[in-house]
Amino acid sequence: MKKIKLNLGKRNYSILIGNRILKNLPGCIKKLNIGRDALIITNPKIKKIAGAKLENSLKKGGISYRFECVPDSEKSKSQRIAFKLIDKVSKYAKGKRVFIIALGGGVIGDLSGFIASVYKRGIPYIQIPTTLLGQIDSSIGGKVAIDLDCGKNLVGAFYQPSLVLCDISLLKSLPKKQLRAGLAEAVKYGIIKDKLLFSYIEKNYSNILNLNNQNLEHIINKCAAIKAKIVSLDEKEKKGIRTILNYGHTIGHAIETAGRFKAYTHGEAIALGMLAAQRIAGKLKIFTNQKEEKRITDILANIGLPSKIKGLKLNSIIKAQSFDKKFIHGKNRFVLPKAIGRVIIKEGIPLKIIQKSVESLRE
Ligand SMILES: NC(=O)c1ccc[n+]([C@@H]2O[C@H](COP(=O)([O-])OP(=O)(O)OC[C@H]3O[C@@H](n4cnc5c(N)ncnc54)[C@H](O)[C@@H]3O)[C@@H](O)[C@H]2O)c1
Ligand SMILES: [Zn+2]
Repeated sequence: MKKIKLNLGKRNYSILIGNRILKNLPGCIKKLNIGRDALIITNPKIKKIAGAKLENSLKKGGISYRFECVPDSEKSKSQRIAFKLIDKVSKYAKGKRVFIIALGGGVIGDLSGFIASVYKRGIPYIQIPTTLLGQIDSSIGGKVAIDLDCGKNLVGAFYQPSLVLCDISLLKSLPKKQLRAGLAEAVKYGIIKDKLLFSYIEKNYSNILNLNNQNLEHIINKCAAIKAKIVSLDEKEKKGIRTILNYGHTIGHAIETAGRFKAYTHGEAIALGMLAAQRIAGKLKIFTNQKEEKRITDILANIGLPSKIKGLKLNSIIKAQSFDKKFIHGKNRFVLPKAIGRVIIKEGIPLKIIQKSVESLRE
């Protein structure tokens, strides 16, 4: 088992990565001293797949628990569901010192973390991510949120978990489409920070998609370590360091929103967002290396991620983009590639260039 420390002073926590490590959970809970009553937030599908394993582990460790299921959809990151759950937490919490366990992908993680952040001005929570995207990205770093109709993650907080436990064995049931979506974020880490990781994915993407434990563990370790380092340097995205994690997300989120969270998974939309950013960088002569441009396009295509935006209107994407949180002082803000392993932040990109870049990806 590998342990990555996220250094945030009083809010330090560990990210544990390994195969079949759920059994270690009760020991960690005891050490953390966060209570002995867990409210587990998940969805019916994940409960069926991983619920019994988690239950066994908690029972053996003498931790009491209760499951609360929400529908399996981005729509669960909504005001209605969040407040219904908060009500459930408060009922369960009577006479107890309750903490939350998020058992699921990014949707469950973001929603559970949001609830933990607001209930009684904050109770502890543990992330047990069950998607590749969750294990390499969304469970780490404390960005928790729910969505509004006009845009994603618009109501939220920075609220760090007490522990992130990534059990690779939980990924075995994950559909290929979801593995591909997770790999899109892994490619993102390669482009923003680590060209060796990028080459590793180029060589091993097929093994990763076939759930080879060693390859999976390697990329989860690498990506989690990059995210932990970036978050420890700029927890609240105030110094422009954490901003690079948004690579591909400005247009990516707009595509997700325009597709009403049904047309594309988060990872697929981010793959398209990265291609859009690459085209913007090309038009601005920031990214001119054609060989590297082809390597990025090829790896995304080889993984099986979309390379064209289908069925969405240009206007609806541009409109959704204008609600992006990365808009500051009326100026848009993009993370753009300079080379594989290096990105820059650029503000005030002319709308025409954005429109042309997105349009060139539309089918
Ligand atoms: N907080 C952050 O820093 C951050 C970062 C990236 C993404 N996100 C958010 O994460 C969400 C996307 O997360 P996601 O891609 O994990 O999607 P998701 O949570 O919707 O999960 C994808 C699908 O996989 C299913 N699933 C989960 N685990 C499974 C398993 N082990 N076996 C079989 N099926 C399983 C889910 O039920 C769901 O149908 C978005 O809401 C996005 O905004 C947050
Ligand atoms: Zn993302």
